[in-house]
Amino acid sequence: MKDLSGKTAFVTGAASGIGLETARALAQRGARPILADIDGVRAEAAAAELRRDGADAIGIALNVAEEADWARAGETAGRFGDVRILVSNAGVGGGAGAFETYDPEVWRWAYAVNAHAHLYACRTFLGAMKAAGEPAHLAITASMVALVPPPISVAYISSKFATLGIAMALRNELADTQVGISVLCPGMSATNIVATTARLRPGAGVQGAAAATAQNMSGVLAGGMSPARIGERVVQAIETGEFFIFTHPEWKAMAQAQFDEILSAFGPSADPDYAGDDIDGLIAANGARRMNVAVGAKTSREAQEETPDVR
Ligand SMILES: NC(=O)c1ccc[n+]([C@@H]2O[C@H](COP(=O)([O-])OP(=O)(O)OC[C@H]3O[C@@H](n4cnc5c(N)ncnc54)[C@H](O)[C@@H]3O)[C@@H](O)[C@H]2O)c1
Repeated sequence: MKDLSGKTAFVTGAASGIGLETARALAQRGARPILADIDGVRAEAAAAELRRDGADAIGIALNVAEEADWARAGETAGRFGDVRILVSNAGVGGGAGAFETYDPEVWRWAYAVNAHAHLYACRTFLGAMKAAGEPAHLAITASMVALVPPPISVAYISSKFATLGIAMALRNELADTQVGISVLCPGMSATNIVATTARLRPGAGVQGAAAATAQNMSGVLAGGMSPARIGERVVQAIETGEFFIFTHPEWKAMAQAQFDEILSAFGPSADPDYAGDDIDGLIAANGARRMNVAVGAKTSREAQEETPDVR
């Protein structure tokens, strides 16, 4: 999407951090951001700041986990402009401590905000973006932890795996449309995410070891990358049509080790007499022409021919 000028952009989690800075970078290109956040007052204050800098921006209240809120957000957005850039970014931390001690309510909340909300975002805007017949773009915020899981919250990591999966699957669906797609996988950034999570999480406040972990995370993230740099990088990727947005190359060696382990775990077929999966048949059965997710621009047949030892 080369020219963002005049395009209406809907950004979730835009009152703070990476969402706010993505909205700012979009405004700097002449796009018209709608800053949506569960904290509508801060979203509107952020939009007012962008307007003072000359942008055409509004702020709205939206809980991304509430489907009814999305209907209202869609109506408000429609009065402002036709959304052509959708940045589904809002996210929160998960529980802490041993997995078997997780509060199920916190688990469901983390999934609702971090993963399920992307469906509501797409139900609200993606159909019209596809039908418009002009360039549009969807950017989804996952995390580096969706590729290289460090020893942090299981709810956070697994909901971000879900987010990466949503983006990778959608990449197939959008392959023959004018809607580009990106997935942001940042490492650490100096945002308010720990405080936001503490403020919004359901149930009793965290105590004991979990509270200490939250405090430690706050300290570590304070030294993270500036969200302004990440927001700028997201907008560059929207312009160039990049799918993966990696902002922190210091994780590359661990990603390499992770994928090397996965590849080295492939052995011979469990059934030596089996001819092998009909992957092209699988693709055709789903009405698709190719599989973008795993093999980029290659067809599945080309990818298999390049790696003959997999059988
Ligand atoms: N900060 C990091 O180190 C880091 C690293 C990787 C990925 N991320 C991801 O980046 C995204 C943005 O987080 P951030 O670090 O900028 O945090 P942040 O807390 O500074 O900003 C997140 C914003 O989302 C809003 N929000 C939370 N729940 C919401 C809901 N239900 N509905 C609408 N808005 C809601 C918050 O009010 C806040 O303004 C998240 O998806 C996060 O998981 C952050």
